[in-house]
Amino acid sequence: MLFLRPATQTLLRQATAKGATTAYVRNRSIVVQVSSLLSGNYSARTPTANTTCRGFSDASSSPWVDFPMAPPDPIIGLTEAFLNDDFSDKVNVGVGAYRCDLGKPFVLPVVREAESDLVAEDLDHEYSGIAGCPLFVNLALKFAYGDDSVPLHEKRVAGVQTLSGTGGLRVFGEMLHKFGHKHIYVPNPTWGNHIPIFTNAGLEVRKYSYYENETCSLDFSNLIDDMKAMPEGSCILLHACAHNPTGMDPTLEQWKEISKVAMEKKLLPFFDCAYQGFASGDARKDAAAIRMFVEDGHKIALVQSFSKNFGLYGQRVGALSVVGDTPEEAQRVLSQLKVCIRPSYSNPPRHGARIVSKILSSEEKTNEFVDQCMGMAKRIDEMRIKLKQTLEDLGSSRSWDHVTKQIGMFAYSGMSKDEVVALREKHHIYCTLDGRISMAGVTSNNVEYIARAIHDVTGGK
Ligand code: LMR
Repeated sequence: MLFLRPATQTLLRQATAKGATTAYVRNRSIVVQVSSLLSGNYSARTPTANTTCRGFSDASSSPWVDFPMAPPDPIIGLTEAFLNDDFSDKVNVGVGAYRCDLGKPFVLPVVREAESDLVAEDLDHEYSGIAGCPLFVNLALKFAYGDDSVPLHEKRVAGVQTLSGTGGLRVFGEMLHKFGHKHIYVPNPTWGNHIPIFTNAGLEVRKYSYYENETCSLDFSNLIDDMKAMPEGSCILLHACAHNPTGMDPTLEQWKEISKVAMEKKLLPFFDCAYQGFASGDARKDAAAIRMFVEDGHKIALVQSFSKNFGLYGQRVGALSVVGDTPEEAQRVLSQLKVCIRPSYSNPPRHGARIVSKILSSEEKTNEFVDQCMGMAKRIDEMRIKLKQTLEDLGSSRSWDHVTKQIGMFAYSGMSKDEVVALREKHHIYCTLDGRISMAGVTSNNVEYIARAIHDVTGGK
């Protein structure tokens, strides 16, 4: 009897595909036919009392011997590949991280100012509470819900600081699962990491229609139909603004309709807000959908990231909040969020949250932030226009109108997987396999190179 771990079965299948017919079973010192192993010539799928936990390996070999190589991350893995590329004109338009027009990482001047203020304050490095810094959480929530938000004034919003957006998504995913949700709906397409985050939290990830590839626009009628078909009480993930990867957001009227259907179907709207202020340059405008849903009476959940708008990528600054019916209910939710956070990472880091708090607690610094954030959004818009114009000047017969119609950090180019691979292999330009281009990595210096390369791999059509 042999216990075959799933990882070992995968290895055996891969070996068979490459022509292997026999395998050496180390802890038995026998050679057997791979086909007999795979065809179920073993009875137990769970280890029996005398089965070693190491599967094929014997006690003297490494415990990691059965670990297969995992594939690189579809987004972060591109940066690794880019860094290993020796080509002098290589371009990284994979990860969504803002670059100035010289192609360099950009630290907002107001962030620098806040940092020097913090250094002068000679602060300690004690632990934060499990829910993070209360001042930061209050300011972050006001930033999203608005100063005049009724649930905030009524103290019926539970809020915690999180490890940026990803951390908040995971914590809320775990909470959903713990309290009986079996699935979550995400748009098709969505940010690639949403799927493993929610799967790892124990939820089945289901998709709803969002984007129509043929017309490069929002697939609104199918989106609404899919919402109407969702089981009552389902959680639906919505991108608050600057949808990643498509850059296509519903209009305000469409949001109104989405809110109405969500109410009729008793859905739980969960907003992922990673680009507030960065999408249009105006934080209030970018929060319109969140504020509308709250005014409509939804008990939303919201995750905020301060990576893009404040340029605090590596500081992992974010917030998760849940709107309740009463202050007492919000307190109970807060207690459960803390129960989820404590065994996971205990409490969040302080520095980035202190920077955001310094800025958002000063009117002067907030205004500086608004201007600088607007500056980033504008530079990206200019690059959209230049990229589209250059492709047209090169004589491309394909329409590139969507490049300027889309907003936020990404252009969902419509390039096929083969075209993306050719872009990488022939021209050393790194974008994700779904054809998403991070416009934040496009500069006055490389825009023509990128346009020529796209023109080449698409054959100008
Ligand atoms: C992206 O979509 O590129 C960013 O949100 C970075 C990431 O973590 O994937």
